[in-house]
Amino acid sequence: MKSIVILISGRGSNMEAILGANLSMAVKAVISNRPNAAGLGIAAARGVPTAVIDHRQYPSREGFDAALAELIDALAPDYIVLAGFMRVLTDAFVLSYPRRIINIHPSLLPAFPGLHTHRQALLAGVKIHGCSVHLVTPALDHGPIIAQAAVPVLAGDDERALAERVLAQEHRLYPAALGWLADGRISVTETGVVRLRAANVLLPAEEQCLVNPRE
Ligand code: GRF
Repeated sequence: MKSIVILISGRGSNMEAILGANLSMAVKAVISNRPNAAGLGIAAARGVPTAVIDHRQYPSREGFDAALAELIDALAPDYIVLAGFMRVLTDAFVLSYPRRIINIHPSLLPAFPGLHTHRQALLAGVKIHGCSVHLVTPALDHGPIIAQAAVPVLAGDDERALAERVLAQEHRLYPAALGWLADGRISVTETGVVRLRAANVLLPAEEQCLVNPRE
């Protein structure tokens, strides 16, 4: 069975969705860079080991990442799952786990990388928004896309309403994508396109795309 560690910084609702999905993956630990992250309590209540590496105790990004790597390497997971982890990782860290770090980003990448994605979407006036699960590469929010879910942007939306609609899809999409990884169904082409397989058969790309009807 494949194993993961989950990195969080706060609320931990994506982490909770992953833990609740009963994937055939061992969750070796939930690690937070913030001691007061609400998600730590949720993980502990489910009997998942937790750890904190407080980024404020490290003067440099490199120092923090080295401490994080030491802890992760001791746990030896197959994958590192970022779930609302709000620290930018150094290139050296990312490159030492090639195709083994997964992230969820609250936009339809490559649109709206970075922070405040829902505000960016509203300002741009897009009519469809969503979330993406992707492999992490040194270019922030630009790694190969494993799966996406789309939602409509409605006329009365503010950031909060849009965030809530997207978050509900994050909670479906992340466990689904991790389930494919757990089953070894994901492959990446030379050009960095993620394909999904059932046994040895390539599935249509639609399987990697959740589209949600207008509410
Ligand atoms: C999610 O929207 C995630 O996509 C983004 O930050 C939020 C974290 O929420 N990176 P949670 O901690 O999983 O509840």
